[in-house]
This record gives sequence, C-alpha cells and structure tokens, in this order.
Amino acid sequence: MLFTQLIKVNLKTKSFGKVIEYFQKLNSTNKEAFDLINENKISSGSIIITDFQYDGKGRNNKKWFASSGKSITFSLVIKPEFHPKKLNLLSLAVGISIVNTIKKLNLNASLKWPNDIFIKEKKCGGILIESKILQNKIKYLIIGIGINVNENEFDSSIQNITTSLSIEKKSPIQRELIIAWILNELELLIKSLNQESSEDIISAWINLCNHINKKVNFLHNKKIKEGIFKGINNDGEAIIQLDNNEIILNQTQIFDILTD
Ligand code: BTN
Repeated sequence: MLFTQLIKVNLKTKSFGKVIEYFQKLNSTNKEAFDLINENKISSGSIIITDFQYDGKGRNNKKWFASSGKSITFSLVIKPEFHPKKLNLLSLAVGISIVNTIKKLNLNASLKWPNDIFIKEKKCGGILIESKILQNKIKYLIIGIGINVNENEFDSSIQNITTSLSIEKKSPIQRELIIAWILNELELLIKSLNQESSEDIISAWINLCNHINKKVNFLHNKKIKEGIFKGINNDGEAIIQLDNNEIILNQTQIFDILTD
C-alpha cells in the first residue's frame, strides 16, 4: 500500500505531485498517462502512481518488471516550457534528481549514459520519457520512473546485474519519502532548464557518471566502433574520443559501456 498523503506532506514543490492519481494495480503508468492526456483529464505536474505495475515499459521496447508493493513506478506529466533543444538535458536532469535522492540514504548511487541508475555495479532504476505530440508540437512530456526499492531478490537471470535500495541499505525503505524527494529536486532542475545556460545540469551529471574515460561501443556510419566516453556537451550529447578525434553522439547511438 502506498500512502499518497505521506508523499504530499513531504513535498516542497509548487506544482509537481500536488495531484496524485493512485491506482492499486495498473498495466503501465506511462500508458495511463497517455490515456488521461487523451481524455483531457490530467494537468501539468500531476503524477500517476501504482503499487503494482504489471506490464511496464522499458527503454528500447523492453519490458520493465516491478514487484507488487515493493517498487516505485510512477509517471510525472509536464507541459514543457523550455526550448525543445533542451530535451536531452531534461532526461539527464531526471537521472540527477534520482541519484541525489538515493544518496540521501547514504548509498553510493551513480548514472550510466544516458540515464540508468546504478548502485555500485548493479542497476536499480531506469527512466522512460515519452511525449504526446499534437500538430508537430510537444504538448505533454511523460516522465516515467522505475526504481527497485524493497525487493529482496530477483529472478536468477538478472540477479547479478540488478539490485534494490533495501538490498544495498540492508533495511526497508519508505517509498513515499523517496518519491517526494525526487519531485522536490526535479521541479527545481526542470525550472533551471528555462535559463540560457545549463552548466549546472551538465556538471552535476558528469560528477555522478560512473564511466567517464571508459570504453564504449557505439554505432557510427553504420559500423560498430569502440571509443572512450569523455563527457557531455552543452546540448546533453555524448562526447566520444575515437582515435585522435572527438565525435558527438546522441542518446540512442551508444549501446554498450564496456568495463575492463
Ligand atoms: C529502462 O528501461 O531503464 C526504463 C524503465 C522505465 C520504467 C518506468 S516504471 C514507470 C513508468 N511506466 C512504465 O511503463 N515505464 C516507466
């Protein structure tokens, strides 16, 4: 059971999370967000949250698995007020807000390009941002966030690469507080996207990234190549060193961070 009131009393936001659409069980909070937008039943800043998401969407058409009563699965709906060229930075900002929240629990969380959430070498959360486009304009953005929180174990096929906050902390974690902390930080970060310079977001992301100067695999001119991840530019794109040159890649081009 999730207590929406407990989320609300911990909010310091102006609009994020003030309206909470809670469902005990739902196929996907992102899908529900699309439905509510299409029916004109949702306003910017609202969140859709469920205690059991049974058909969650992950990035690259993968599924996102969540445990009933243990995970955080929610979607924040916003009307973008920033320039469309800042969309890459939005996705990085969401990752920053989650990692900074997990760090408040004294856990050593980090980011993997573009926005996977890691603790040590294992993934504990992910982000899927989708958009509702009308007449060639983004009308709404749906920011879907999934975090493994109170899971004690995972399927043997993923247990070596997946973890949860409570496994790492060795104690149960209150999910409502985590949701409120993420929304508090994210509202401020998204507001800062309206400013000319986004240096703060860039430097925060680089500081939290766990693979600066590590090898990456990527697709370049239809060929798989190996380069070194050097950081991100002002538009939130990856800077990769390939031989003696630096090339810029967007968020879909890199598909593997190599660990040696
Ligand atoms: C990833 O593949 O890393 C991204 C996973 C995103 C999962 C979240 S859970 C809440 C929201 N609703 C969905 O169906 N997916 C996102």
